[in-house]
Amino acid sequence: MTTGPQQLLLSRIRDVPDYPQPGVVFKDITPLLADPEAFSVLTEALAEFCVRHGATKVVGLEARGFILGAPVAVRAGLGFIPVRKAGKLPGATLSQAYELEYGTAEIEVHAEDLARGDRVMVIDDVLATGGTAAAAMELIRRGGAEVAGLAVLMELGFLGGRARLEPALAGAPLEAL
Ligand code: PRP
Repeated sequence: MTTGPQQLLLSRIRDVPDYPQPGVVFKDITPLLADPEAFSVLTEALAEFCVRHGATKVVGLEARGFILGAPVAVRAGLGFIPVRKAGKLPGATLSQAYELEYGTAEIEVHAEDLARGDRVMVIDDVLATGGTAAAAMELIRRGGAEVAGLAVLMELGFLGGRARLEPALAGAPLEAL
């Protein structure tokens, strides 16, 4: 992505100090979503990445990954698969637990949404520690599909998520706009 569109996206992300707890600077993407030009630039760039890497489906990670992943899937002409927090999907699911800083979390996908031969692109807003994305890629492979890559709006580089994700990506591309 060239500097102009990148600057536009950056200018629409708001830093909220001490949210959700003291010492944390929250990256609020709601100004970007409210700006049709910026939202369009973002979804177009992510859709182009999906097409360039031969994705056949898009996974969005609850909740902000849904907001980005759904329009990206439509734009790229691909099906959308929600990966949800545990207990929200009604059908037969695959579940994956992963470590948080304190405790564990669990995400799920409908098993029928994944099939051998699928190449699945994971879309989310933020890459932080990489725990959520790694768990999603594990789910995709357990469902018999291939990971086409991971594309996020932003990466919090100081948390080391990219390095931690290397084994999970197994050579698949990671794009942080
Ligand atoms: C945030 C963000 C990513 C994840 C990144 O989601 O949207 O999904 O954390 O963190 P990680 O790289 O350390 O795993 P959150 O769990 O806050 O859910 P939300 O989108 O529902 O607010």
